[in-house]
Amino acid sequence: MTVKLNHTIVHARDKRAAAAFLSEILGLPQPVAFGPFLCVKAGNEVTLDFLDADEGEFIVEHYAFLVEDSEFDQIFARIRERRLPYWADPGKRQRGEINTHFGGRGVYFEDPSGHMLEIITRPYGSS
Ligand SMILES: [Fe+2]
Repeated sequence: MTVKLNHTIVHARDKRAAAAFLSEILGLPQPVAFGPFLCVKAGNEVTLDFLDADEGEFIVEHYAFLVEDSEFDQIFARIRERRLPYWADPGKRQRGEINTHFGGRGVYFEDPSGHMLEIITRPYGSS
């Protein structure tokens, strides 16, 4: 298969704040401007292209990132340093906890626009 996700648009309440937050919290390269977008590139070359959205067109989305164990430690440390709320589940019932699904670790937190972000060390369905 040669079809790969290359980029997607992420609507933001403030694209500069949102793009900077993502690159800083995940430890990714600084956002790069391209037209009206601020693009953050993940390790698998997919770019998240942040765009300011009008209030009317804003929809909260979910973005999950697969990370190494050492990266999880670093990212989770940044989440706690910033005193961001985090949850073990997407329904936000288990606040202040992480999960250990599929023999790995996972945690949910929000970006400045309210998008639900997730980091996991094992893909869903791993045995
Ligand atoms: Fe998810």
